[in-house]
Amino acid sequence: ADALKIGIAGLGTVGASLVRIIQQRSNALAVACGRAITITAVSARNRNKDRGVDLSGITWFDDPVALVENADIDVFVELVGGVDGAADLSVRAALARGIHVVTANKALLARHGVEFARLAEEKGLLINYEAAVAGGIPVIKAMRESLTGNNFSRVYGIMNGTCNYILTRMEKEGLSFEACLKEAQRLGYAEADPTFDIEGNDTAHKLAILTTLAFGSEIAVDDIYLEGISNISIEDINAAAELGYRIKLLGVAQRTETGIEQRVHPTMVPLDSVIAQVDGVTNAVALESDILGELLMVGPGAGGNATASAVLGDITDIAKSRPGAQQVPVLGRPAALLEHYRQAK
Ligand code: NDP
Ligand code: HSE
Repeated sequence: ADALKIGIAGLGTVGASLVRIIQQRSNALAVACGRAITITAVSARNRNKDRGVDLSGITWFDDPVALVENADIDVFVELVGGVDGAADLSVRAALARGIHVVTANKALLARHGVEFARLAEEKGLLINYEAAVAGGIPVIKAMRESLTGNNFSRVYGIMNGTCNYILTRMEKEGLSFEACLKEAQRLGYAEADPTFDIEGNDTAHKLAILTTLAFGSEIAVDDIYLEGISNISIEDINAAAELGYRIKLLGVAQRTETGIEQRVHPTMVPLDSVIAQVDGVTNAVALESDILGELLMVGPGAGGNATASAVLGDITDIAKSRPGAQQVPVLGRPAALLEHYRQAK
């Protein structure tokens, strides 16, 4: 089969890791997918920055939209970040041109996911976004594909690596909030604007996506009760420990008698619970559903390689897909159904 040609916009923490992995494993990937995966084009802001990857033979674009409109690609991989501007415009341009999309951008999907799903499904295109929730944990695939047929009652967990890293190091090493945040930024865990992490917005974006996958409801990020960890002190953490608890930033979505409840806030979890043992950048997502029961997925929640692993899985899924085969609905249920919910609301 012909090589799958991909264009990657964003060569930061995630994008540079992805390029390195695809280049290092090109032979194994070709065998696994039955066709080669070739990076034909990339885009970032600063052409002169050394990213520790070999970009020779790859066409460079300063602007992701120009990449989408001019490069010869089958898949557009959006790793730029941000809701308005280059990320949004380039994803729209890709869908308009009939190009599959892979993105790690939860903020963008939490705003425009239903619209993108409708556009993609009208054209038989895929939007894959495993990296957008809980880094390398394959929770999107589990909900979108493996658990089809289950009715979910609750989805909750630790979905922000930066916050869990900060809370863990504050408790175990007595380090200050600021020092831990700086280290999370240095390690590539934090968002470009880290207030999204520490004020809970990033967890809310992820929760909003999981809520829609679980309950088929409209993405409603502004309905989420939101409280971050920026006011948590070492004294709070120690007081919780003395009472037999650990403080974790949780996102929770559950079905109630009055509708779907969604909230993000620091939570006291019992020290002997599994979720209390989830340390550092690790995330944990619990899914409660009627056929399966409770599933807890634990794994790396942020960082270049962990995130690139999820992005790579999204790309290889497209490489392995057969032309004309039934597409997996972008948000787990056909966008037409979500449109129905939107109109019924
Ligand atoms: P970075 O800030 O490290 O990288 C962003 C990249 O985008 C940079 O290469 C930057 O260029 C480029 N860029 C920014 N604006 C533009 C623009 N207008 N035109 C062209 N290129 C642009 O971000 P990350 O790699 O950490 O994150 C990327 C995405 O992945 C985000 O949506 C993030 O939320 C998501 N994500 C990140 C995770 C992580 O652990 N880091 C985990 C899961 C998801 P330049 O390098 O030249 O400045
Ligand atoms: N800033 C995010 C986090 C990246 O710390 O979890 C992964 O989505």
